[in-house]
Amino acid sequence: MYGLKLKYLKSSLLIVASLIAIILAFSYLPHALLALLGGLVVILGVSYAFGRNTWKQTKDVGSGPSRAAGARPQRGERKSGGRKSRAEARASRRAEILHPEETVTLSEEREAAGIEDVFTSLDNQLVGLVPVKKKVEEIASLLLVDRVRHRFGLDAPRPNLHMCFTGDPGTGKTTVALQMADLLFRLGYLEKGHLVHAMRDDLVGEFIGHTAPKTKRTLERAMGGVLFIDEAYYLYRAGDSKDYGQECIDILLQVMENDRDKLVVILAGYKDRMDVFFESNPGMSSRIAHHLDFAPYKLDELVAIGRAMLDRSAYYLSADAEMAFREYLTLRMGQSRFANARSVRNELERTRLRHAFRLAAEPEVSRSKDDLMRLEADDILASPLFALAESVSAVEESARRLSR
Ligand SMILES: Nc1ncnc2c1ncn2[C@@H]1O[C@H](COP(=O)(O)OP(=O)(O)OP(=O)(O)O)[C@@H](O)[C@H]1O
Ligand SMILES: [Mg+2]
Repeated sequence: MYGLKLKYLKSSLLIVASLIAIILAFSYLPHALLALLGGLVVILGVSYAFGRNTWKQTKDVGSGPSRAAGARPQRGERKSGGRKSRAEARASRRAEILHPEETVTLSEEREAAGIEDVFTSLDNQLVGLVPVKKKVEEIASLLLVDRVRHRFGLDAPRPNLHMCFTGDPGTGKTTVALQMADLLFRLGYLEKGHLVHAMRDDLVGEFIGHTAPKTKRTLERAMGGVLFIDEAYYLYRAGDSKDYGQECIDILLQVMENDRDKLVVILAGYKDRMDVFFESNPGMSSRIAHHLDFAPYKLDELVAIGRAMLDRSAYYLSADAEMAFREYLTLRMGQSRFANARSVRNELERTRLRHAFRLAAEPEVSRSKDDLMRLEADDILASPLFALAESVSAVEESARRLSR
C-alpha cells in the first residue's frame, strides 16, 4: 500500500521537475541546443526501457517452474520472484538427464507426481468398477514409464491420449473423467487439468457461420485440460445434409491431431450409439486411443454404492431398511430412465427426506444420535414406486383372471 503511494509520489515529483526543466530550457537556451538535448533524452529513455524489458524477460525464464522436468505440479502455482523454493530446486534437479548407470524406482516417480492421491480418491468415490480402474492404472503406468524414459534422455513421444467412455447413465463416466484430468495434470501431460463438459448445443450452431466460432470457443475454454463431449453421437446426424455437425467434427478432428499436446478429448455415451457414430466417422475412431467401458451395476453393487453414499453423510440403513432398499432397486432397475448410481443417490435423498419428516411428525419424542442416523424400512417403503408396482400387479392379476 505504502509502496504504491511512494511510487506515485516519486513519479509526480519527476514529472513536475521535468516540466520546470523544459520551461527553463525553453526560456534560456538556444532552440538548436534544446532540440539536441531533447533527442538525447528520447534515445536514453528508449534504450533504458528496452534494456529493462530484456532483463525482465530473462528473469522470468530463469525462475519459471519446470513442467518438462516432470516436477510435481501444483494447481494454480505462482511464480515467486524471490529465492528458489525447495520444490523448484527439486524440479531443476529432476530436469537433469540421468546417467545411464543411475536407477529410478517407479514408486518414487509415482510419489513425485503425487498420483497416489488420484487412485485413493478413485477408490473412495467409486465402489467396484474394477475393469475401469484397471484401465486407468494401465494408462497411468504408460505415462509414468514415459516420464522415467524422458529422465534418462530416451525419446518418449507424447502418446495419443484421446479417449472414449461408453456406458449407461449414472455408471461413473463423468466422475472418472474428472479424475483422469487430474491424473494427466499431475503427470505433466496437461497444463491445467480442468474439465470442460460439452454437449451438441455447446459445439454446433443453428445457422451458417455459427458452428465454427462456437466450436472454437468451447475448444479454447478446454485448452490445457479435458474436453468431455457427452452423448457425442448427437454431433452427427446421418442423412441430414443441412446439419452443421459435420463442420464441428472436422474442426475437432483437426484440433485432436494438431493440439494433442494441449488438449485431451473424451467422447462419452451409450456403447451401441457410439459404435454407429465411429462407423460413420472413421477419422474420429482412429484418433481415439483408449476405450473404457462402464458396465451397468448389478443389484449388489448398487446396494454397496448406496451404503457408501450413506456412510459418507453419516446415515445407515437398518437391516429391514436394507431389504426394502433391495426390493426398491429390483423394481427400479426394470423401469425406464433408470440411471444406475444416480438413481441410487436420488432415492436415498428422498429417503432422508421421509426419515426427517417421520421424526418431525413427533416433535416431543426424544431422539438419540442413532435415531438421527438410522433409516428405517418405512422410509423406503413409502416410495410411490411400491404403490405403483402393487397396482400394476393387481391389474395384471385381474387381466389373467378375465382371460381364464
Ligand atoms: N461406482 C460408483 N460408486 C459410487 N458412486 C458412484 C459410482 N458410479 C457413479 N457414482 C455416483 O453416481 C453419480 C452419477 O455418476 P456420473 O455422473 O459419473 O455418471 P455418468 O456415467 O457420467 O452419467 P451420465 O451418463 O448420466 O452423465 C455421481 O454422484 C457419482 O458419484
Ligand atoms: Mg456424465
